[in-house]
Amino acid sequence: MSFAHAHLLGIEQLNPFDIITLLDLAETYVDLNRRDVKHSDALTGLTQINMFFENSTRTQASFELAGKRLGADVMNMSMQASSIKKGETLIDTAMTLNAMHPDLLVVRHPHSGAVDLLAQKVNCAVLNAGDGKHEHPTQALLDALTIRRAKGRLQRLNIAICGDIAHSRVARSNILLLGKMENRIRLIGPPTLLPSPFKDFGVEVYDDMREGLKDVDVVMMLRLQKERMDGGFIPSEREYYHRYGLDAEKLSYAKPDAIVMHPGPMNRGVEIDGEIADDINRSVIQEQVEMGVAVRMAAMDLLARNLRARRAEKGVMV
Ligand code: NCD
Repeated sequence: MSFAHAHLLGIEQLNPFDIITLLDLAETYVDLNRRDVKHSDALTGLTQINMFFENSTRTQASFELAGKRLGADVMNMSMQASSIKKGETLIDTAMTLNAMHPDLLVVRHPHSGAVDLLAQKVNCAVLNAGDGKHEHPTQALLDALTIRRAKGRLQRLNIAICGDIAHSRVARSNILLLGKMENRIRLIGPPTLLPSPFKDFGVEVYDDMREGLKDVDVVMMLRLQKERMDGGFIPSEREYYHRYGLDAEKLSYAKPDAIVMHPGPMNRGVEIDGEIADDINRSVIQEQVEMGVAVRMAAMDLLARNLRARRAEKGVMV
């Protein structure tokens, strides 16, 4: 099986075979998750610690469920309440946890690169659950699985990523993944939210929704990340919705069978019309959430296999 990684830090480090391996394994977990008894023993005996230094609803719940369904002992650290508040550094916190012998560490952090740094300091598998504006690899993988299931393939699709691209780790990981799988990517948004380096990723850039959505297979909407803005990026939410909010009229420019995606949490009436988000014929937003659990199970399973293999090589009991 091709997945020779100790950690899952970003899509950047993965090749197309890694991506396919992970998605194929995730398919088996989609089936497991639809059964009455949702248990496997892939992580039995292993300890998973979730450290979320930023708020999260679905990602944290998804990682927690994924670990529990695979039999891991899962602990959620409430980082608001932890010693971080008392001034302990990220590395000190990590070293303290490391001394408790976790096997899988799931980390979300507001600073880009913080999770990579942490991975260098601990001797367990680290999964990036989102670091600043940098990467959110499991989100891109769950989006890829959702697209592959809806479209029957993950290549040669026209995919529009729309909205606040500048502040989005979801956009960055998706651009990397979908580019590696040879899709045509269009970025659509106001110039203030479309930083110029994206032009180097081999993508097409539009500031007009109707033009950009023409004949696309996939419309991926992004949340307006107000917490990462220091003002002045958009004139007003009303104006933003008028120009960039996805409604039925703008969606009519995409292919008739185009799917609509959103990583959540959604601002209804800001980046997306509530009716489109709830339209089960177009929107795959609920399916994205379902795929999230399966993809995280697959990622932790693959990393745990590698961890066990490394420890067995070193003669450590597992
Ligand atoms: C995303 C995130 O946290 O980066 N959400 C998520 O993981 N479901 C996107 C967002 O916050 O807009």
